[in-house]
Amino acid sequence: MGGFTLRNRVAHASIVTRFVQNGQATDPLIDYYKSRARGGAGLIVGEPLAMINANKDPRRLRVYDDEGMASLERLAEAVEGHDCRLLGQAQDPGRGRHEAGRNDSAIGVTALPDDLSWTVPHVLSTTEIRGVIEEWARSCARLKKAGFSGIELSSGHGHLFHQFLSPWSNRREDEFGGDLEGRTRFLRELIAAIRAECGRPFIIGTKLPGDDGVPDSIDLDEARLIAAEIAATGEVDYWTFAWGAHARSLWTHLPNAHGERAPYLKDIAQLASVAPEIPAGALGYITDPNEGEYAVSENLADLVFLGRPLITDPAWPEKARTGQEAKIRYCVSCNTCWRSIIDGNRLECDNNPRVAEPDEAFWEPSPAGKKKRITVVGSGIAGLEAAWVAAGRGHEVTVIGQSGEPGGKTRVHAELIGGENLSSIYDYQYLTGKRYGVNYQLDSAGTLADVLATEPDEVVLATGAKMIPPAFIPQEYIDEGFVEDLRSFVLPFIGRKAGEAGRVVIFDEDHTEMTYAAAELLADNFDHVTIVTPRERIATDCTLVNRQEIYQRLYDRDIEIVTSCVPVGLDDLEEAELRVANVYNGREQVLSDIISITYSTARRPLDELQAPLEAEGLVVHSIGDCHAPRSVLAATREGYRLAMAL
Ligand SMILES: Cc1cc2nc3c(=O)[nH]c(=O)nc-3n(C[C@H](O)[C@H](O)[C@H](O)COP(=O)(O)O)c2cc1C
Repeated sequence: MGGFTLRNRVAHASIVTRFVQNGQATDPLIDYYKSRARGGAGLIVGEPLAMINANKDPRRLRVYDDEGMASLERLAEAVEGHDCRLLGQAQDPGRGRHEAGRNDSAIGVTALPDDLSWTVPHVLSTTEIRGVIEEWARSCARLKKAGFSGIELSSGHGHLFHQFLSPWSNRREDEFGGDLEGRTRFLRELIAAIRAECGRPFIIGTKLPGDDGVPDSIDLDEARLIAAEIAATGEVDYWTFAWGAHARSLWTHLPNAHGERAPYLKDIAQLASVAPEIPAGALGYITDPNEGEYAVSENLADLVFLGRPLITDPAWPEKARTGQEAKIRYCVSCNTCWRSIIDGNRLECDNNPRVAEPDEAFWEPSPAGKKKRITVVGSGIAGLEAAWVAAGRGHEVTVIGQSGEPGGKTRVHAELIGGENLSSIYDYQYLTGKRYGVNYQLDSAGTLADVLATEPDEVVLATGAKMIPPAFIPQEYIDEGFVEDLRSFVLPFIGRKAGEAGRVVIFDEDHTEMTYAAAELLADNFDHVTIVTPRERIATDCTLVNRQEIYQRLYDRDIEIVTSCVPVGLDDLEEAELRVANVYNGREQVLSDIISITYSTARRPLDELQAPLEAEGLVVHSIGDCHAPRSVLAATREGYRLAMAL
């Protein structure tokens, strides 16, 4: 490919890590990529680089002049030294912006607003376009000099190159706009300029748009025509295709368990068939080695790109190659990674608390100085993480869990629509714990006596948290079990489509993904589901892509959303009506045909064992929701960190 032979077909798709500082590589950046090269990928497409003067984003490695050469060389050496080819990525967001606000320094194709941020960019003149093409090509030559094997041109996802290709965003009247030839000219000239500057061997790959989900923009037919034009340059060494754009379709570039696995595989093969001589990359929600194997063995793709799965387990390729699939820590497609970088933080993962640690690939816990007897109370994901890591360090570990099955509340979420991947978190923890000899005492009441019977040196409390009933519900309704929290209320409906009459109201002061997955399940079981929330919109604790998809799904199921309101005067449960009042002006409206009310609210820790255990003179640690109710990310991270400190 491009004058190189790859050691295998597994490729790391480009992922922004936010480990770059002031345009320079940091240790975590080097460690992140080195681990993925050590872990067995044959090709790594790195993150977008600062390659032109119009985009000197200090969160990107500096390539626009020679000041960043040492960083680039360091990165190239770290990756290429493991027989893994490293590519840079050329990308500019153009008018696009994911974060709140507008992009003040946007350059673009036409003076039209971005679909999400409504940023109107500075329109590049014909001369400026030729200038940036030259700059990108010169920067590619710097990359080659630093030891990179090539470049990927990010031409999908709604970014600048995509904006040139799309008839929706490109309304230019010069030679870079108009018909297909005009709209593809930018990318074709860029490819030609890079080849002229870098020659061979040098890989030029591109990520083109598949269906971008924007009306009057690029559908599969248009994508095919574009692909054929780009292929005709004769200089593309591989390609892949991405879905969505900077628009309401953004979420489609990160598919998950709400849809089928590897959903774009066949469409990618179709698009790539316009030029079978160009190696094609499968991309999108391929998490299991079997799915990659299928893509290759059925001739649907030549390369298998993995984005999120390699964040979760850098050694995925090598474990797959050596038949150790059961030891892979699998991506659960929750998009916490995406959330972390969009929020401006360093890359994080719900199912990998060790992202960018120096020894991340193939990591096994290091032996503890002093072996102790540790009892973990609670078999949710915080407790299970602490248990397997502590056992891996040589401690004698017992887990006491109330439920007969491990996983805690994450297990409930995993059983809801689209949640199935979450089981990979507790399955991995539980099985790895078994491998290290954890003694699981499940189905146990978990009383003080049960804990003391294990004769622990130290106790880890990971007993979770419980939703706090909202004030509008009379206490006796809670005590009598007439009104339950959403996690309890939803249980009897799992796996059912009951078709019950009437309306269920969910009072939502949670705003995380679980609430909406439960709402969907209830919509499959009742005539109407209404979500009432005091905030101005729902899903505020879900990242943009997840929120877009949640809205899509809720509207598809006709779930009603009542914002800026709280229920009032819930005096008689026999009444089929519920009054809700606007939180800003108190004006009321009545919801009729009510059959049930449930609530999804903030939680309080279930830490009742802490004081009695301490009174017994024991060292007691609390983690996860039991320490303070938070997220899956906090639970796995805290379980890991505590176990490393024991
Ligand atoms: C955290 C995160 C950052 C990403 N950054 C980029 C990027 O900078 N450039 C790019 O082309 N794609 C980027 N992507 C998209 C991925 O390359 C890939 O297309 C997408 O994640 C689908 O593949 P997957 O299902 O294997 O994760 C990013 C995705 C995630 C989750």
